[in-house]
Amino acid sequence: MRVPSFSDLQLPSWLRFSNAAVRHLTYGILIGFSLSVTSTSLTLYWRTRRRKRLLADNSKLFEPRAIELRSDDILSGVTGLIGNTPLVRINSLSDALGVEILGKAEFLNPGGSVKDRVALRMVEDAERQGLLHPNTGSRIFEGTVGSTGISIATIAKARGYDTTIIMPDDVAEEKVKALQALGADVQRVRPASIVDKKQYVNMARQAAVRFGRTDIASSIEDAQANHELPTGSPSVVVTTTSTHVQVDDSAEDPQDEELLTKPRGFFADQFENRSNFDAHFEGTGPELWRQTNGKLDAFVSGAGTGGTIAGIGRYIKSMNEDVRVVLADPEGSGLYNKVKFGVMYDRKEAEGTKRRHQVDTVVEGIGINRMTNNIDLALPIIDDAFRITDAEAVSMSRYLVQHDGLFLGSSSACNLVACVKLVRQLGWKEGQTIATVLCDSGNRHYSKFWNTDYLQRANIPIDLSIVEDLLKRPALDGVPVAQ
Ligand SMILES: Cc1ncc(COP(=O)(O)O)c(C=O)c1O
Repeated sequence: MRVPSFSDLQLPSWLRFSNAAVRHLTYGILIGFSLSVTSTSLTLYWRTRRRKRLLADNSKLFEPRAIELRSDDILSGVTGLIGNTPLVRINSLSDALGVEILGKAEFLNPGGSVKDRVALRMVEDAERQGLLHPNTGSRIFEGTVGSTGISIATIAKARGYDTTIIMPDDVAEEKVKALQALGADVQRVRPASIVDKKQYVNMARQAAVRFGRTDIASSIEDAQANHELPTGSPSVVVTTTSTHVQVDDSAEDPQDEELLTKPRGFFADQFENRSNFDAHFEGTGPELWRQTNGKLDAFVSGAGTGGTIAGIGRYIKSMNEDVRVVLADPEGSGLYNKVKFGVMYDRKEAEGTKRRHQVDTVVEGIGINRMTNNIDLALPIIDDAFRITDAEAVSMSRYLVQHDGLFLGSSSACNLVACVKLVRQLGWKEGQTIATVLCDSGNRHYSKFWNTDYLQRANIPIDLSIVEDLLKRPALDGVPVAQ
């Protein structure tokens, strides 16, 4: 039996074409194919051209600065290491949420925190205004919970000044040790309210006023009347040990050798000093904008003096007012209520159940219960706020070590909890970009925030599932996430 060949096969009638029809069909397919290849190549060509043009525009907008040169350049001393910090993607949180959560790695500054920028700017501004002269035996005074003190002490040594740091006696011990290692005179006082003369910021101001005069002037008023110099700012105090004191606002006489070379006392006052805001408005903000190429949906930060959120927030809003600026506020701070309801108020403060006098939380560096110049600058641009509990901050810090190998301090942990809450509340999951500040490293917090015994005694749980649950919780339309 003959095996049927291919030519024996009969096609159904609807598939039998004449030669002409086959020819037309082939031409049709060829023309269609070449049209689609041409249009795809044209689209690709235009897209590549557009991308190149955008990149060229961006590189004009964002001139390469020290961050690209960091590894190649020789920097001038320790102050050359300040700023231009990298922006790091927090992989665990970003992957879990489907967005980009980015942290400005401020813990890489030489003094170990975001405060290096502020300390440098305050000293440089004072030098530019002729208020401070290096290597004259002058002393910088500051009231701080620690980070700013360490930054001031670092810069003071590099610039030729001494430092006196006055701080509450309940801050983490390692900050005191760092300050002493940097040669600062450290004075620790009982935590007290700002209306109390013995509050650490007030004490720092008084110490600057009395600088070099304790034996002569018995009261602050005497000391002030005798040797305070005009500074152009109601908060910054400059005193001189010279007898040639000016009483008006006129510029210093460049010939007055005695006035220029005698030691001065300088109260930096990060809470009220405008240089704090400027360091972030002119430094950190533009860096962040450049690093994200302006692709930013939200900026999240806590506030201690308010300088960071005010400076970065205002810069970002000046570039694009649709970017949300969001406050992360720890327990015991009144700012959350100020943002949400216009009243500076904290429940624990009212109940008198505080563990600390200043702000009742294990988180150091952020939270405040009074208005300052820098908070004033921040409030109008803050769109929303989240209250972060100590347990949430602790949970986040342990979660980040576990999943990312990131060992961060308490305020950074607070910021990142607020980032997660924001993303959940808005139901973001399509690659939106949220940036925050990684203010300092965990190694500044061994004795409290990273101390299991301390947390147990303070009844603060170490429970990773708090963050795991926050990450898991589905965003429900119209149902806000707990704040
Ligand atoms: C560790 C740490 N994080 C954050 C902040 C808050 O920054 P700002 O004072 O700019 O509000 C501070 C302030 O002292 C701090 O010490």
